[in-house]
Amino acid sequence: MKLSLKSIALFALLGGFTSTVLTQEIEEDDEDSPSPKMHPPIPPMNGTYVAPLTPKYDYAEVMHKSYLFYHAQKSGHLPYQRMAWRGDSCKVCVGKFGEDLSRGWYEAANTMKWGLPFGWTVTQLAFNVVVFGDAMKSVDELAEGLELLKWGSDYLVNAHYNDTHVVGQLGTSALGPISKLIELDVDFNYWGPPEEYEQWVPTGLPHEATYITPDNPSSEIIGEYSAAMAAISIAWRPYDAAMADDLVDRAKRLFKLASEHQGSYVSSKANAFQWATFWYPSTHYVDELAWSAAWIYAATKDPEWLDIAKEWYLKATDSFTEYSWDEKGGALHVLLYLFTKEDMFYTNAMEYFNQFLPNPNQIVKYTPRGLAYIEHWGSVGYSGNVAFLMLAMAKALDYKGKEAEQMVTFATQQINYALGDYGYSWVVGFGDNYPSKPYHKSSYNSYIDYPMRGEFQDKVEKDFSESKTAQRFILYGAVEGGPSVDDSWYDDRSNYEYSEVTQDYNSAWTGAIAGLIDYYGVDKFEPYTDCGLDLGWSHPNASAPPSWPADDCYHTCNKGCPRGEMSSSYSWKLLMNPESADSLLDTLYPGKGSERAFTLKGSPIVKQSIQKTHDEKVIAGAPEPVNEHPAKEIEAGDQQNASPSIESPKPIVSSSLGVRLDPTTSLLLGSLMAGLFSAAW
Ligand SMILES: *[C@@H]1O[C@H](CO)[C@@H](O)[C@H](O)[C@H]1NC(C)=O
Ligand SMILES: *[C@@H]1O[C@H](CO)[C@@H](O)[C@H](O)[C@H]1NC(C)=O
Ligand SMILES: *[C@@H]1O[C@H](CO)[C@@H](O)[C@H](O)[C@H]1NC(C)=O
Repeated sequence: MKLSLKSIALFALLGGFTSTVLTQEIEEDDEDSPSPKMHPPIPPMNGTYVAPLTPKYDYAEVMHKSYLFYHAQKSGHLPYQRMAWRGDSCKVCVGKFGEDLSRGWYEAANTMKWGLPFGWTVTQLAFNVVVFGDAMKSVDELAEGLELLKWGSDYLVNAHYNDTHVVGQLGTSALGPISKLIELDVDFNYWGPPEEYEQWVPTGLPHEATYITPDNPSSEIIGEYSAAMAAISIAWRPYDAAMADDLVDRAKRLFKLASEHQGSYVSSKANAFQWATFWYPSTHYVDELAWSAAWIYAATKDPEWLDIAKEWYLKATDSFTEYSWDEKGGALHVLLYLFTKEDMFYTNAMEYFNQFLPNPNQIVKYTPRGLAYIEHWGSVGYSGNVAFLMLAMAKALDYKGKEAEQMVTFATQQINYALGDYGYSWVVGFGDNYPSKPYHKSSYNSYIDYPMRGEFQDKVEKDFSESKTAQRFILYGAVEGGPSVDDSWYDDRSNYEYSEVTQDYNSAWTGAIAGLIDYYGVDKFEPYTDCGLDLGWSHPNASAPPSWPADDCYHTCNKGCPRGEMSSSYSWKLLMNPESADSLLDTLYPGKGSERAFTLKGSPIVKQSIQKTHDEKVIAGAPEPVNEHPAKEIEAGDQQNASPSIESPKPIVSSSLGVRLDPTTSLLLGSLMAGLFSAAW
């Protein structure tokens, strides 16, 4: 969940609600927290920060773990399990036209796929490879990066149903008007593992796809998807030119949709986009149009696209603020400079950076211990975004000269702050003092360890938020929100403005880490592997881990793989040889290769639907689903990843949707859901 300050402001604007429960909660948290702020009273930093001459942290380890975090966020039928506590999910993620929307990653603790933050995460992960792919390759992380991009790309390509109908969002965070007076949260009020979402969700409400069309435009989401596709094409071209060509073609068609039917989801009448606006309000779409055209230029070198990019770039007046899923301005200067070397972009990039660097135009405040404090929510992620841009620029200057030195210093200071310079690491599973309670559902309530399975979701929520039990599984690599402006923080799930993790916090961060590997020199680092990581396989409920073969040095303790040749990872081989999936998967899962290969192809998903349960009556007043709602049955194969010792989970439909409602609200909910069903099916 991401509630930015912008959302709060917008929330107030929207209707002048007096009982803004969310804002109240946040204020209360500060005064009356159940757990003390934990940090040693370290004195402030004195003088100017000086970047260490040799790497202070093992950035190859951070990079490996950062990519691992995206496995924790993965949605869909998995080719293989990276960690024991995540399995197949998004089992009923099908669009209106039968599109398989199961892949990609979940946004944060929840199972939503919001168009703009998702699209940007993919674009940025590709940007990382475009700039620092060589550094990744030399520490054997490039194959992993490309595999990840493919998983994101599969979702985007399927979301692009045709040139007028594109899935802009998957999932239902909440239903009905934007008011927390009535609890109509759907996804956000589910506290169990994504693997069991379909069994829980009331009356068979699946992950709903919301479309962007000429009548319901979103130039920012479509522009971002287009940018992502063009960026991925650059990263992937050396390995699959046909895929790259298809992505470029799609990127151009999406740009056409975004520019010919301009508009923002912020003004959409679709309830799903109104909720998107509540959680992720987009400021403008002009920057995404420039971003899309700039990436198409980068992918094609076609001067016509540079002209289009410049036309939109010059209109993007907000180019001097944060760099994030929302604002592309800072990155536009850098991207366009990298691919054109034109002075205008250099000048603008430096003007942008001077907001952060020590100079008379510096406006960004720092915490006493040196974190550039750009946004209250996700302060570590935001400073990492700028660190990435500066490292990309510094690389373009060959890391030479005073400006490059300043940029590297900024990046090192920001990244090292987050890795432990303050005595606390903001990266889960890195260092010896790191967050024990990230705001993340599946590492706490996993499908292999969910003690409260079967309870009402209110109780599960209370336990999730208030219990002092640490996460049951280590969410390696997740970048947590960040400290307060005075460097203090809570290691506590109930204070999620500190402890939230999201796919977007980790994206540019991963690139900044690769940048530091590049800056210090790849020979200073050894490839890092899963050897010694606790991925949950020793848990009594865990299934057997994949049997990685002897020539895999990425997922194992095996030694002796040739370094920097893309061959240390068996999963890369699997990805590059789809025609041999059966036999390759059979190595990982002896005797089960063909079954898994079949499931992976995705086609059976469309037929699949949800089990009807005896508990439906709990939602008083809600109508029976209309007849055309497909017959509900979960395929037995869905449980294939669960260990035999696990009983098939009891389907729970009585979420807080059921228990919190009085009769009036139940009726309202009933009609909303009826409306939704008729719209959906
Ligand atoms: C900063 O200077 C003060 C006063 O000299 C000193 O007590 C403190 O330890 C210094 N802080 C650091 C981080 O070196
Ligand atoms: C896309 O599909 C929808 C639904 O079938 C259809 O109405 C629309 O005309 C299609 N658009 C194009 C460009 O083919
Ligand atoms: C799995 O393990 C935990 C703890 O060992 C146990 O409490 C739980 O009941 C087991 N089963 C499931 C399905 O979570």
